Amino acid sequence: MLKVEGLNVEVRGKQVLHDIDLDIPEGSTYVLFGPNGSGKSTLLATIMGFSQFEVTSGRIFFRGKDITDAPIDERARLGIGMLMQRPPNIPGVRLRSVLKATSGDGMDVERAAGELNMDSFLERDINVGFSGGELKRSEILQLQAQGPCFLMMDEPESGVDLVSIQVIGKKIRDLIGGIGCGSDGSGTIRSALIITHTGQILDFIEAQKAFVLANGTIQCSGSPDVMFERIRRHGYEECIRCHQRN
Ligand SMILES: Nc1ncnc2c1ncn2[C@@H]1O[C@H](COP(=O)(O)OP(=O)(O)OP(=O)(O)O)[C@@H](O)[C@H]1O
Ligand SMILES: [Mg+2]
Repeated sequence: MLKVEGLNVEVRGKQVLHDIDLDIPEGSTYVLFGPNGSGKSTLLATIMGFSQFEVTSGRIFFRGKDITDAPIDERARLGIGMLMQRPPNIPGVRLRSVLKATSGDGMDVERAAGELNMDSFLERDINVGFSGGELKRSEILQLQAQGPCFLMMDEPESGVDLVSIQVIGKKIRDLIGGIGCGSDGSGTIRSALIITHTGQILDFIEAQKAFVLANGTIQCSGSPDVMFERIRRHGYEECIRCHQRN
């Protein structure tokens, strides 16, 4: 589904990502761990195609197509979607309008909003004045409307209360489990790449593999639950040392 080869990325002249290789097959969910400032959000934003992230070398392929130089809207149309860590406010644009425009007739907006307890937010300007947890629910609703084949989620559970985490966890599980996406993606089984610090989302999804990204490089990979427990007990250092030895 997604292949990244030898990716080097600069932001404002500073190299943030070094030699990233990633291969996420169709129907797989991968998890990204790593300390603050290590480059996790940068990796997702680069795959999405945000223009401030400059690919200095390496390639990104999506469903076999080289999208390294493709604009962000083309990537979205091809079926890449992203839940942002800090989504922007969009004054003057109502949540309902965006959901309608992205989903067409493909989603019952009232029902989908109701499932995420977002009914009363449909007439509000996107993200303006939303609380931390409301922002995440709004982002998930927008992802659902888009229905991408490849879902990238940057800390989807951050700032979400213990009751709402049940609601969004199940919704994320259903989204990832969905089939069909993009303009010609019918029958495609979705894949996901999820960043988490707390690991809470792992209680709801079935992830096959996890990576630790530190200092802009993928340091190690393994089973998500085992790696999470190891980081919780020993921090990231063990993984970084192991990478340096190899
Ligand atoms: N637009 C930008 N301008 C300047 N520096 C940036 C920009 N975006 C990212 N960086 C820098 O790149 C590095 C990686 O940032 P990134 O947001 O990818 O980290 P992260 O791993 O997602 O961290 P966190 O866990 O705190 O979210 C940081 O040092 C950050 O300050
Ligand atoms: Mg981040």
